[in-house]
Amino acid sequence: MRIDPRIPAAVPGFDAPFFQAGLAGYSDGAMRLVARMHGAPFCVTEALLDRTLINGGKGRRKEDPDLIASEIGMGEIEDNRAASLDDHPLAGQIMGSWPDEIARGAEILAGMGHEVIDVNLACPVKKIKRKARGGHFLAFPEDAIGVLRAVRDAVPAHIPCTVKLRRSFNDTPEMAANFERIFDASYEMGYAWATVHCRTVEQKYLGPGRWEFLRDLVSRRPDRVIFGSGDIWTVLDIFRMMDMCGVHGVSVARGCIGNPWIFRQAREMMAGRPPVGPSIAEQRETLLAHYRFSEIIHGARRTSRHMRKFGIKFAQHHPYAQQVKSAFIRCDDAAEWAAVIDHHYGAEVEARAQSAGWAPAVVTDASAAMAMEDADMDCGPADCASSTG
Ligand SMILES: Cc1cc2nc3c(=O)[nH]c(=O)nc-3n(C[C@H](O)[C@H](O)[C@H](O)COP(=O)(O)O)c2cc1C
Repeated sequence: MRIDPRIPAAVPGFDAPFFQAGLAGYSDGAMRLVARMHGAPFCVTEALLDRTLINGGKGRRKEDPDLIASEIGMGEIEDNRAASLDDHPLAGQIMGSWPDEIARGAEILAGMGHEVIDVNLACPVKKIKRKARGGHFLAFPEDAIGVLRAVRDAVPAHIPCTVKLRRSFNDTPEMAANFERIFDASYEMGYAWATVHCRTVEQKYLGPGRWEFLRDLVSRRPDRVIFGSGDIWTVLDIFRMMDMCGVHGVSVARGCIGNPWIFRQAREMMAGRPPVGPSIAEQRETLLAHYRFSEIIHGARRTSRHMRKFGIKFAQHHPYAQQVKSAFIRCDDAAEWAAVIDHHYGAEVEARAQSAGWAPAVVTDASAAMAMEDADMDCGPADCASSTG
Protein backbone atom coordinates (compact mmCIF):
# COMPACT_ATOMS: atom_id res chain seq x y z
CA MET A 1 0.00 0.00 0.00
CA ARG A 2 1.70 3.18 -1.13
CA ILE A 3 0.66 6.79 -0.93
CA ASP A 4 -0.51 8.71 -3.98
CA PRO A 5 2.38 11.10 -4.77
CA ARG A 6 0.00 14.03 -5.04
CA ILE A 7 -0.53 13.90 -1.27
CA PRO A 8 3.09 14.45 -0.11
CA ALA A 9 3.53 16.84 -3.05
CA ALA A 10 0.77 19.01 -1.57
CA VAL A 11 1.81 18.45 2.05
CA PRO A 12 5.46 17.51 2.57
CA GLY A 13 5.77 14.91 5.32
CA PHE A 14 2.34 13.40 4.69
CA ASP A 15 3.91 10.06 3.86
CA ALA A 16 1.28 7.40 4.61
CA PRO A 17 -2.32 7.04 3.43
CA PHE A 18 -4.12 7.77 6.69
CA PHE A 19 -4.42 10.63 9.15
CA GLN A 20 -5.93 11.59 12.48
CA ALA A 21 -9.32 13.19 11.91
CA GLY A 22 -10.72 16.30 13.46
CA LEU A 23 -12.57 15.18 16.62
CA ALA A 24 -14.08 18.05 18.54
CA GLY A 25 -13.47 17.76 22.25
CA TYR A 26 -10.68 15.25 21.65
CA SER A 27 -8.16 16.02 18.90
CA ASP A 28 -6.33 18.85 20.64
CA GLY A 29 -2.58 19.35 20.50
CA ALA A 30 -2.08 16.67 23.16
CA MET A 31 -3.94 13.96 21.28
CA ARG A 32 -2.29 15.00 18.04
CA LEU A 33 1.24 14.81 19.40
CA VAL A 34 0.54 11.41 20.90
CA ALA A 35 -0.78 10.27 17.50
CA ARG A 36 2.35 11.55 15.79
CA MET A 37 4.59 9.76 18.30
CA HIS A 38 2.86 6.60 17.13
CA GLY A 39 3.19 7.23 13.41
CA ALA A 40 0.32 9.49 12.33
CA PRO A 41 1.72 11.47 9.42
CA PHE A 42 -0.87 14.24 9.44
CA CYS A 43 -3.58 15.56 11.76
CA VAL A 44 -6.55 17.88 11.61
CA THR A 45 -7.62 20.22 14.42
CA GLU A 46 -11.13 20.02 15.70
CA ALA A 47 -13.59 22.32 13.92
CA LEU A 48 -12.75 25.86 14.98
CA LEU A 49 -15.34 28.56 14.83
CA ASP A 50 -14.36 31.54 12.74
CA ARG A 51 -15.66 34.03 15.31
CA THR A 52 -13.62 32.49 18.10
CA LEU A 53 -10.50 32.89 16.02
CA ILE A 54 -11.39 36.40 14.96
CA ASN A 55 -12.10 37.41 18.56
CA GLY A 56 -8.81 35.92 19.69
CA GLY A 57 -10.58 33.37 21.92
CA LYS A 58 -8.79 30.54 23.62
CA GLY A 59 -9.31 28.27 20.61
CA ARG A 60 -6.54 30.31 19.11
CA ARG A 61 -4.00 29.43 21.78
CA LYS A 62 -5.24 25.86 22.07
CA GLU A 63 -4.70 25.16 18.41
CA ASP A 64 -1.30 26.75 18.06
CA PRO A 65 0.75 24.00 16.38
CA ASP A 66 3.89 25.14 18.19
CA LEU A 67 2.37 25.58 21.62
CA ILE A 68 3.60 22.44 23.31
CA ALA A 69 7.03 22.51 21.74
CA SER A 70 7.54 26.08 22.92
CA GLU A 71 6.17 25.56 26.42
CA ILE A 72 7.73 22.24 27.25
CA GLY A 73 11.18 23.16 26.06
CA MET A 74 12.81 20.89 23.55
CA GLY A 75 14.76 17.94 24.75
CA GLU A 76 13.10 17.73 28.14
CA ILE A 77 11.59 14.38 27.34
CA GLU A 78 14.36 12.35 25.82
CA ASP A 79 12.04 9.77 24.37
CA ASN A 80 10.01 12.27 22.46
CA ARG A 81 12.93 13.70 20.53
CA ALA A 82 12.03 11.60 17.52
CA ALA A 83 8.63 13.25 17.37
CA SER A 84 10.28 16.62 18.02
CA LEU A 85 7.10 17.57 19.87
CA ASP A 86 6.29 19.06 16.56
CA ASP A 87 2.62 19.33 15.65
CA HIS A 88 3.20 19.50 11.89
CA PRO A 89 2.01 19.02 9.23
CA LEU A 90 -1.37 20.08 10.52
CA ALA A 91 -4.64 21.14 8.93
CA GLY A 92 -6.52 23.89 10.72
CA GLN A 93 -10.20 23.21 10.27
CA ILE A 94 -12.47 26.22 9.94
CA MET A 95 -16.21 26.37 10.42
CA GLY A 96 -18.69 29.22 10.43
CA SER A 97 -21.77 30.67 8.79
CA TRP A 98 -20.71 33.62 6.66
CA PRO A 99 -18.15 33.47 3.82
CA ASP A 100 -16.28 36.62 4.81
CA GLU A 101 -15.91 35.53 8.45
CA ILE A 102 -14.95 31.98 7.54
CA ALA A 103 -12.37 33.39 5.12
CA ARG A 104 -10.96 35.67 7.81
CA GLY A 105 -10.76 32.73 10.23
CA ALA A 106 -8.98 30.68 7.57
CA GLU A 107 -6.48 33.49 7.06
CA ILE A 108 -5.77 33.53 10.79
CA LEU A 109 -5.17 29.76 10.81
CA ALA A 110 -2.83 30.11 7.84
CA GLY A 111 -0.97 32.85 9.70
CA MET A 112 -0.58 30.56 12.73
CA GLY A 113 1.42 28.08 10.67
CA HIS A 114 -1.11 25.42 9.72
CA GLU A 115 0.11 23.72 6.57
CA VAL A 116 -3.41 23.07 5.26
CA ILE A 117 -6.75 24.82 5.67
CA ASP A 118 -9.66 22.42 5.88
CA VAL A 119 -13.22 23.72 5.51
CA ASN A 120 -15.82 21.91 7.58
CA LEU A 121 -18.99 21.27 5.56
CA ALA A 122 -19.82 18.17 7.60
CA CYS A 123 -20.62 18.93 11.23
CA PRO A 124 -24.23 17.92 11.92
CA VAL A 125 -24.72 20.23 14.89
CA LYS A 126 -26.77 23.25 14.08
CA LYS A 127 -25.94 25.89 16.60
CA ILE A 128 -27.33 29.09 15.33
CA LYS A 129 -30.96 29.48 14.39
CA ARG A 130 -31.61 30.13 10.71
CA LYS A 131 -27.92 30.11 9.85
CA ALA A 132 -26.29 27.24 8.02
CA ARG A 133 -23.04 25.89 9.40
CA GLY A 134 -20.89 22.83 8.81
CA GLY A 135 -22.86 20.04 7.14
CA HIS A 136 -25.97 22.18 6.91
CA PHE A 137 -24.34 23.98 4.01
CA LEU A 138 -24.88 20.79 1.98
CA ALA A 139 -28.53 21.82 1.74
CA PHE A 140 -27.48 25.18 0.24
CA PRO A 141 -25.00 24.47 -2.55
CA GLU A 142 -24.63 28.07 -3.74
CA ASP A 143 -23.77 29.19 -0.22
CA ALA A 144 -21.41 26.26 0.27
CA ILE A 145 -19.59 27.08 -2.95
CA GLY A 146 -19.44 30.72 -1.86
CA VAL A 147 -17.74 29.67 1.38
CA LEU A 148 -15.23 27.47 -0.44
CA ARG A 149 -14.39 30.27 -2.86
CA ALA A 150 -13.99 32.88 -0.14
CA VAL A 151 -11.59 30.62 1.77
CA ARG A 152 -9.54 29.70 -1.28
CA ASP A 153 -9.25 33.40 -2.21
CA ALA A 154 -8.22 34.41 1.30
CA VAL A 155 -5.62 31.72 1.95
CA PRO A 156 -2.18 32.28 0.37
CA ALA A 157 -1.90 30.28 -2.86
CA HIS A 158 0.96 28.09 -1.59
CA ILE A 159 -1.18 26.71 1.26
CA PRO A 160 -3.45 23.86 0.16
CA CYS A 161 -7.14 24.03 0.99
CA THR A 162 -9.19 20.87 1.55
CA VAL A 163 -12.79 20.21 2.47
CA LYS A 164 -14.57 17.83 4.82
CA LEU A 165 -17.97 16.72 3.51
CA ARG A 166 -20.74 14.33 4.40
CA ARG A 167 -21.99 12.14 1.56
CA SER A 168 -25.20 14.22 1.48
CA PHE A 169 -27.49 16.21 3.72
CA ASN A 170 -30.05 13.40 3.55
CA ASP A 171 -31.08 10.61 1.20
CA THR A 172 -33.22 12.65 -1.22
CA PRO A 173 -32.11 12.92 -4.89
CA GLU A 174 -32.03 16.71 -4.56
CA MET A 175 -29.50 16.57 -1.74
CA ALA A 176 -27.44 13.94 -3.54
CA ALA A 177 -27.19 16.35 -6.50
CA ASN A 178 -26.15 19.15 -4.13
CA PHE A 179 -23.28 17.03 -2.88
CA GLU A 180 -22.04 16.46 -6.44
CA ARG A 181 -22.12 20.18 -7.21
CA ILE A 182 -20.21 21.15 -4.10
CA PHE A 183 -17.74 18.28 -4.46
CA ASP A 184 -17.01 19.12 -8.11
CA ALA A 185 -16.78 22.85 -7.43
CA SER A 186 -14.19 22.35 -4.71
CA TYR A 187 -11.76 20.57 -7.07
CA GLU A 188 -12.48 23.04 -9.87
CA MET A 189 -11.44 25.93 -7.64
CA GLY A 190 -8.21 24.15 -6.66
CA TYR A 191 -8.98 22.28 -3.46
CA ALA A 192 -6.36 19.56 -3.02
CA TRP A 193 -8.78 16.91 -1.79
CA ALA A 194 -12.07 16.21 -0.08
CA THR A 195 -12.52 13.93 2.90
CA VAL A 196 -15.96 12.38 2.63
CA HIS A 197 -17.70 11.01 5.71
CA CYS A 198 -20.04 8.40 4.26
CA ARG A 199 -22.96 9.17 6.56
CA THR A 200 -25.56 11.86 5.87
CA VAL A 201 -25.82 14.98 7.99
CA GLU A 202 -29.24 13.87 9.18
CA GLN A 203 -27.76 10.53 10.21
CA LYS A 204 -25.29 12.33 12.51
CA TYR A 205 -23.04 9.52 13.83
CA LEU A 206 -25.64 6.79 14.05
CA GLY A 207 -25.85 3.62 12.02
CA PRO A 208 -23.30 2.34 9.57
CA GLY A 209 -21.53 4.52 7.04
CA ARG A 210 -22.11 3.70 3.39
CA TRP A 211 -18.73 2.57 2.01
CA GLU A 212 -20.42 1.75 -1.32
CA PHE A 213 -20.98 5.47 -1.74
CA LEU A 214 -17.24 6.08 -1.52
CA ARG A 215 -16.51 3.28 -3.97
CA ASP A 216 -18.99 4.73 -6.44
CA LEU A 217 -17.64 8.27 -6.00
CA VAL A 218 -14.05 7.20 -6.60
CA SER A 219 -15.03 5.21 -9.68
CA ARG A 220 -16.89 8.19 -11.13
CA ARG A 221 -14.08 10.66 -10.33
CA PRO A 222 -10.94 8.56 -10.74
CA ASP A 223 -8.67 11.56 -11.29
CA ARG A 224 -9.37 13.12 -7.90
CA VAL A 225 -7.66 12.59 -4.58
CA ILE A 226 -10.38 11.47 -2.17
CA PHE A 227 -10.09 10.49 1.50
CA GLY A 228 -12.73 8.31 3.11
CA SER A 229 -14.21 8.56 6.58
CA GLY A 230 -16.66 6.37 8.46
CA ASP A 231 -16.48 3.20 10.52
CA ILE A 232 -12.73 2.93 10.91
CA TRP A 233 -12.58 1.00 14.17
CA THR A 234 -9.32 -0.92 13.82
CA VAL A 235 -6.24 -0.81 11.64
CA LEU A 236 -7.78 -3.53 9.49
CA ASP A 237 -10.56 -1.13 8.51
CA ILE A 238 -8.06 1.38 7.13
CA PHE A 239 -6.81 -1.07 4.54
CA ARG A 240 -10.23 -2.59 3.98
CA MET A 241 -11.67 0.80 3.09
CA MET A 242 -8.80 1.52 0.72
CA ASP A 243 -9.21 -1.89 -0.89
CA MET A 244 -12.94 -1.81 -1.21
CA CYS A 245 -13.49 1.85 -2.07
CA GLY A 246 -10.26 2.82 -3.84
CA VAL A 247 -9.95 5.96 -1.72
CA HIS A 248 -6.46 7.46 -1.64
CA GLY A 249 -6.37 7.54 2.11
CA VAL A 250 -8.43 7.18 5.23
CA SER A 251 -9.40 9.52 8.02
CA VAL A 252 -9.18 7.77 11.39
CA ALA A 253 -11.67 9.17 13.89
CA ARG A 254 -13.35 7.26 16.72
CA GLY A 255 -10.99 4.34 16.11
CA CYS A 256 -8.01 6.34 17.39
CA ILE A 257 -9.48 7.74 20.60
CA GLY A 258 -7.41 6.09 23.31
CA ASN A 259 -5.81 4.05 20.55
CA PRO A 260 -2.88 5.91 18.97
CA TRP A 261 -1.36 2.47 18.29
CA ILE A 262 -3.63 2.23 15.27
CA PHE A 263 -1.11 4.43 13.45
CA ARG A 264 1.87 2.31 14.43
CA GLN A 265 -0.06 -0.78 13.43
CA ALA A 266 -0.90 0.73 10.04
CA ARG A 267 2.79 1.33 9.41
CA GLU A 268 3.54 -2.20 10.58
CA MET A 269 1.05 -3.56 8.07
CA MET A 270 2.55 -1.42 5.32
CA ALA A 271 5.90 -3.00 6.14
CA GLY A 272 4.37 -6.49 5.90
CA ARG A 273 4.34 -7.13 9.65
CA PRO A 274 1.35 -8.13 11.76
CA PRO A 275 -0.29 -5.27 13.68
CA VAL A 276 0.27 -5.84 17.37
CA GLY A 277 -1.39 -4.16 20.36
CA PRO A 278 0.53 -2.22 23.01
CA SER A 279 2.35 -3.71 25.99
CA ILE A 280 1.47 -2.36 29.42
CA ALA A 281 4.75 -0.44 29.51
CA GLU A 282 3.86 1.24 26.21
CA GLN A 283 0.41 2.07 27.49
CA ARG A 284 1.91 3.66 30.59
CA GLU A 285 4.34 5.79 28.63
CA THR A 286 1.61 6.98 26.27
CA LEU A 287 -0.85 7.79 29.05
CA LEU A 288 1.79 9.82 30.88
CA ALA A 289 2.73 11.75 27.74
CA HIS A 290 -0.90 12.46 26.87
CA TYR A 291 -1.59 13.72 30.39
CA ARG A 292 1.47 15.92 30.43
CA PHE A 293 0.70 17.50 27.05
CA SER A 294 -2.89 18.03 28.10
CA GLU A 295 -1.81 19.89 31.26
CA ILE A 296 0.16 22.31 29.12
CA ILE A 297 -2.85 23.07 26.99
CA HIS A 298 -5.68 22.99 29.50
CA GLY A 299 -4.04 23.46 32.90
CA ALA A 300 -4.11 21.03 35.82
CA ARG A 301 -7.74 21.41 36.84
CA ARG A 302 -9.37 20.93 33.45
CA THR A 303 -6.97 18.15 32.50
CA SER A 304 -8.06 15.75 35.22
CA ARG A 305 -11.64 16.02 33.95
CA HIS A 306 -10.69 16.11 30.27
CA MET A 307 -8.48 13.01 30.51
CA ARG A 308 -11.17 10.85 32.07
CA LYS A 309 -12.84 10.17 28.73
CA PHE A 310 -9.47 9.22 27.25
CA GLY A 311 -8.63 6.98 30.20
CA ILE A 312 -11.85 5.04 29.65
CA LYS A 313 -10.84 4.39 26.06
CA PHE A 314 -7.20 3.63 26.85
CA ALA A 315 -8.39 1.09 29.42
CA GLN A 316 -9.69 -1.13 26.61
CA HIS A 317 -6.12 -2.21 25.87
CA HIS A 318 -5.42 -3.31 29.42
CA PRO A 319 -5.70 -6.98 30.40
CA TYR A 320 -7.85 -5.93 33.37
CA ALA A 321 -9.88 -3.48 31.29
CA GLN A 322 -13.00 -3.23 33.44
CA GLN A 323 -11.09 -2.57 36.63
CA VAL A 324 -8.93 0.07 35.00
CA LYS A 325 -11.89 1.73 33.33
CA SER A 326 -13.69 2.03 36.67
CA ALA A 327 -10.55 3.42 38.26
CA PHE A 328 -10.22 6.14 35.57
CA ILE A 329 -13.89 7.04 35.93
CA ARG A 330 -13.32 7.74 39.63
CA CYS A 331 -10.28 9.98 39.02
CA ASP A 332 -10.75 13.55 40.15
CA ASP A 333 -7.30 15.05 40.05
CA ALA A 334 -3.74 14.57 38.89
CA ALA A 335 -2.72 12.69 42.04
CA GLU A 336 -5.51 10.15 41.58
CA TRP A 337 -4.63 9.78 37.93
CA ALA A 338 -1.00 9.13 38.82
CA ALA A 339 -2.10 6.58 41.43
CA VAL A 340 -4.16 4.68 38.84
CA ILE A 341 -1.20 4.62 36.48
CA ASP A 342 1.13 3.43 39.23
CA HIS A 343 -1.29 0.79 40.44
CA HIS A 344 -2.36 -0.65 37.09
CA TYR A 345 0.47 0.04 34.69
CA GLY A 346 3.57 -1.07 36.59
CA ALA A 347 6.01 -3.82 35.61
CA GLU A 348 4.62 -6.15 38.27
CA VAL A 349 1.11 -5.89 36.73
CA GLU A 350 2.52 -6.72 33.32
CA ALA A 351 4.37 -9.71 34.80
CA ARG A 352 1.22 -10.91 36.56
CA ALA A 353 -0.84 -10.56 33.36
CA GLN A 354 1.82 -12.40 31.36
CA SER A 355 1.97 -15.26 33.79
CA ALA A 356 -1.81 -15.53 33.43
CA GLY A 357 -1.30 -15.87 29.67
CA TRP A 358 -1.83 -12.27 28.52
CA ALA A 359 0.33 -10.76 25.80
CA PRO A 360 -0.11 -7.84 23.40
CA ALA A 361 -2.35 -9.38 20.75
CA VAL A 362 -2.35 -9.14 16.99
CA VAL A 363 -5.34 -7.04 15.88
CA THR A 364 -8.18 -9.15 14.50
CA ASP A 365 -11.75 -8.48 13.53
CA ALA A 366 -12.78 -9.36 17.06
CA SER A 367 -10.95 -6.20 18.20
CA ALA A 368 -13.47 -4.13 16.25
CA ALA A 369 -16.29 -5.08 18.57
CA MET A 370 -14.25 -3.83 21.50
CA ALA A 371 -13.39 -0.62 19.69
CA MET A 372 -17.04 0.04 18.96
CA GLU A 373 -17.97 -0.29 22.59
CA ASP A 374 -19.05 3.15 23.80
CA ALA A 375 -18.95 4.37 20.21
CA ASP A 376 -22.28 6.01 20.75
CA MET A 377 -20.39 8.50 22.87
CA ASP A 378 -22.06 11.83 23.05
CA CYS A 379 -20.90 13.28 19.81
CA GLY A 380 -23.63 15.77 19.48
CA PRO A 381 -20.47 17.77 19.38
CA ALA A 382 -20.12 18.90 22.83
CA ASP A 383 -17.63 18.53 20.14
CA CYS A 384 -18.05 21.57 18.01
CA ALA A 385 -19.28 23.56 20.99
CA SER A 386 -16.05 22.90 22.82
CA SER A 387 -14.12 24.36 19.95
CA THR A 388 -15.97 27.61 20.24
CA GLY A 389 -13.65 28.26 23.14
C1 LIG B 1 -16.92 13.32 19.10
C2 LIG B 1 -16.72 13.61 17.65
C3 LIG B 1 -16.27 14.86 17.26
C4 LIG B 1 -16.07 15.13 15.90
N1 LIG B 1 -15.56 16.35 15.54
C5 LIG B 1 -15.23 16.59 14.26
C6 LIG B 1 -14.60 17.80 13.89
O1 LIG B 1 -14.39 18.71 14.70
N2 LIG B 1 -14.24 17.95 12.59
C7 LIG B 1 -14.48 16.98 11.65
O2 LIG B 1 -14.12 17.14 10.50
N3 LIG B 1 -15.09 15.84 11.98
C8 LIG B 1 -15.46 15.61 13.25
N4 LIG B 1 -16.04 14.43 13.60
C9 LIG B 1 -16.29 13.42 12.56
C10 LIG B 1 -15.13 12.45 12.42
O3 LIG B 1 -13.96 13.09 11.97
C11 LIG B 1 -15.47 11.31 11.44
O4 LIG B 1 -15.74 11.85 10.16
C12 LIG B 1 -16.67 10.51 11.90
O5 LIG B 1 -16.59 10.19 13.27
C13 LIG B 1 -16.82 9.21 11.09
O6 LIG B 1 -15.74 8.35 11.29
P1 LIG B 1 -15.83 7.09 12.31
O7 LIG B 1 -17.17 6.43 12.06
O8 LIG B 1 -14.67 6.23 11.88
O9 LIG B 1 -15.71 7.64 13.67
C14 LIG B 1 -16.32 14.15 14.93
C15 LIG B 1 -16.78 12.89 15.32
C16 LIG B 1 -16.99 12.62 16.66
C17 LIG B 1 -17.49 11.25 17.05
